[in-house]
Amino acid sequence: MMSFFSCKISCISPTTILVLTTFVMLLGIAVCSPPEDPIKCSNNRSDCTITNSYGAFPDRTTCRVAEVVYPASEDELIAAVAAATKNNRKVKVATRYSHSIPKLVCPDGEDGLLISTKNLNKIRKVDTMTGTMTVDSGVTLRQLINESAKAGLALPYAPYWWGLTIGGMMATAAHGSSLWGKGSAIHDHVVGLKMISPGHFEDGYVKVRTLNETDVDFDAAKVSLGVLGVISQVTFQVQPIFKRSITYTMKNDSDLGDQALTFGNQHEFADLTWYPSQRRVLYRTDDRVPLTTKGDALNDFTGFRPTLSSALAVIRSLEENQESRADAEGKCVAAILTTSLLRINAFGLTNNGIVFTGYPVVGYQNRLQSSGTCLDSLNDALITACPWDSRVKGEFFHQTTFTIGMSKVKAFIQDVQRLVSLEPKSFCGTEEYNGILMRYVKASTAYLGKEEDGIDFDMTYYRSKDPLAPRLFEDILEELEQMAMFKYGGLPHWGKNRNLAFEGVIKKYKNGGKFIRVKERFDPQGLFSSEWTNQVLGLKEGLSIVKEGCALEGLCICSQDSHCAPNKGYYCQPGRIYKDARVCSSRKEILT
Ligand SMILES: Cc1cc2nc3c(=O)[nH]c(=O)nc-3n(C[C@H](O)[C@H](O)[C@H](O)COP(=O)(O)OP(=O)(O)OC[C@H]3O[C@@H](n4cnc5c(N)ncnc54)[C@H](O)[C@@H]3O)c2cc1C
Ligand SMILES: *[C@@H]1O[C@H](CO)[C@@H](O)[C@H](O)[C@H]1NC(C)=O
Ligand SMILES: *[C@@H]1O[C@H](CO)[C@@H](O)[C@H](O)[C@H]1NC(C)=O
Ligand SMILES: *[C@@H]1O[C@H](CO)[C@@H](O)[C@H](O)[C@H]1NC(C)=O
Ligand SMILES: *[C@@H]1O[C@H](CO)[C@@H](O)[C@H](O)[C@H]1NC(C)=O
Repeated sequence: MMSFFSCKISCISPTTILVLTTFVMLLGIAVCSPPEDPIKCSNNRSDCTITNSYGAFPDRTTCRVAEVVYPASEDELIAAVAAATKNNRKVKVATRYSHSIPKLVCPDGEDGLLISTKNLNKIRKVDTMTGTMTVDSGVTLRQLINESAKAGLALPYAPYWWGLTIGGMMATAAHGSSLWGKGSAIHDHVVGLKMISPGHFEDGYVKVRTLNETDVDFDAAKVSLGVLGVISQVTFQVQPIFKRSITYTMKNDSDLGDQALTFGNQHEFADLTWYPSQRRVLYRTDDRVPLTTKGDALNDFTGFRPTLSSALAVIRSLEENQESRADAEGKCVAAILTTSLLRINAFGLTNNGIVFTGYPVVGYQNRLQSSGTCLDSLNDALITACPWDSRVKGEFFHQTTFTIGMSKVKAFIQDVQRLVSLEPKSFCGTEEYNGILMRYVKASTAYLGKEEDGIDFDMTYYRSKDPLAPRLFEDILEELEQMAMFKYGGLPHWGKNRNLAFEGVIKKYKNGGKFIRVKERFDPQGLFSSEWTNQVLGLKEGLSIVKEGCALEGLCICSQDSHCAPNKGYYCQPGRIYKDARVCSSRKEILT
């Protein structure tokens, strides 16, 4: 506490942050600079680079491509795939915002082609009789939600951020939180799709497949990492629109291991936000209610709102300052401040679209299921932006996100609690990013979907602009990451995570082999595959990038001190609870 208040250099008073953050949160500034196009070309559509929405891939390299095309119809899309196949050219599909962290979007070499789905953004068919909607793959979640609501329909479960596209969500198995019905993953509500893949000379170099639940290949196509071809259109099974009622309750985390197992069965849209260092958990009690229930609530999640660049810069400077001074206490103070402010503002929920007056918050599904107002509106010269926009000094982080099978969830949570008891302040850094989001996901028939029901743990934490700078409590988070992936067999989210999380991942999928055989059939030359997807699918070595400091960035698991930062006192050592882990630690004790 003291160090926080008594710092001398680049000191930011907590009051400043409080005032700025409250200002941003409460007023919810109405203008914002929309995110930049992830594709930049030096000539008109040629000689381009692509990055993700954070402006940095895990290995921080720049991805170069020779050309980008923007088909606006299925015919143009088919022509683009045919031309690429004929020329034996590497291809990847790019989306409007390119939200995935790993290098999924990067074709090999520098002569690759990007097919952007930015203009494939039409709603094709809404059938209220069968409750189905057919849309282009470049449609955003936001559009899907909006258009279905207009027809009195709703997608029951979805990710919480509406800037994602249908094609991107399916390729990476994106999800919300539910164990009910078919569960929370988008792809499990897809009943049909059209896939455009490379073809033979006789087929005009392109093959169009229309797949539904009766086709054996459908389970491969639902979650494809983008390696089977381009998804053109998707048909969803949706439901008549409904209302839901949300209440957040904070409790201590003593019995989280037990509660987590039952909470998801008790409430249809349940999720949990865990603050391990505060030893508290936020329970989201969230259920369907009759349409007659009063309420017109709105979800405009605080973390996805247009945020003042000046406030983002202050917060980032504070974080950098805490890191450089190893100010663990300062991080804990900032974490409590952040989470308290979020809570006071009901995380951006309002009872009527204007003010929050108390729980429960009741409203229509389309106004509550997702949000993301920072995508909106006019350019305001970056006075405000999405908090992670790389054009301003703002958030810069790693994300570690994985699903632990329900049978192992309790033991995993208890292991994390043991880490916390060894280092009580070690999770304050992730609490500055609102803790560990725990969401329910269901077993899927998709070959690369979830193997069993489980909980997806999602955590965000500080990433230095300097790849060789260790983080505070580097070792604890590295141990958690390795414990999740290797001791508990966690399945990494395809669209998030650092390289090491994908080590051996395909072996965790019982149908991984089947998926690869479908890929060999759909794209025998591997035009839609890249070094990264081949590494993830276990077809190529080199997933870990072993070099100086690699473990700090999650590019490798350390096996020698140089993978850490020995000049800064960080050496490669075993984990404290999971002894098989190898982490960068500054602890003095010699372990056996
Ligand atoms: C702020 C934020 C919030 C998020 N919230 C959630 C969440 O709540 N739940 C969750 O699960 N995830 C979440 N994510 C992660 C997200 O799910 C993935 O990053 C996401 O799926 C990416 O979608 P995208 O449309 O940006 O696709 P991209 O990242 O651009 O593409 C992903 C992959 O799909 C391929 N692809 C895209 N379209 C097609 C197509 N039409 N045909 C074939 N291949 C295609 C691309 O080539 C690429 O390989 C979030 C990400 C951000 C930035
Ligand atoms: C850019 O290229 C596209 C396709 O090659 C073409 O249709 C368009 O007119 C070009 N625009 C400019 C400004 O040259
Ligand atoms: C859909 O979006 C439009 C334009 O942003 C908005 O005016 C409208 O209220 C939305 N409709 C629904 C049902 O959300
Ligand atoms: C599924 O596909 C098959 C063959 O492609 C077709 O005969 C059938 O009508 C389709 N079913 C639905 C529900 O669309
Ligand atoms: C946590 O809360 C429960 C009741 O919800 C209580 O019985 C228990 O003593 C609390 N534990 C701690 C450590 O405060």
